[in-house]
Amino acid sequence: MIGSDALGDAGMALVEAARRAREHAIAPYSSFKVGAALLTRDGRIIGGCNVENASYGLTMCAERVALYKALSEGRDVFTRIAVVADTEEPTPPCGACRQLLWEYCGDIEVVIANLSEVKARMRLSQLLPLPFDARLLE
Ligand code: THU
Repeated sequence: MIGSDALGDAGMALVEAARRAREHAIAPYSSFKVGAALLTRDGRIIGGCNVENASYGLTMCAERVALYKALSEGRDVFTRIAVVADTEEPTPPCGACRQLLWEYCGDIEVVIANLSEVKARMRLSQLLPLPFDARLLE
């Protein structure tokens, strides 16, 4: 876990962007709304929310929506992601999102918050300690 030192204005702006993105969540099946916001090296913020559908399994998480939005505008260097859900316990990225974030963002900081406070901060490598990635395919 990353220490409890203050996130700073930039970190809180990212959390706020994830909270705003969450307001667009389309979650009629689970009622579990999630927002995410990715930060690029040069300070750009890209938000995303979960999008569910009637087949359930094609649901896309907020983190991957944010990531795919960002990648579709050109690959970039990412430094942080904020994830927001309305839970008391931290809501971390699911396994699929961890894999995709690792491949395209590397060992970024993951900030997990709810609607009122930051609940946890860690590196992605702490959530995915033995990753499978392109290096193994060389
Ligand atoms: N979900 C996310 O968007 N991100 C997470 O980190 C965990 C789960 C979504 C998927 C689904 O729409 C709902 O939350 C319940 O699993």
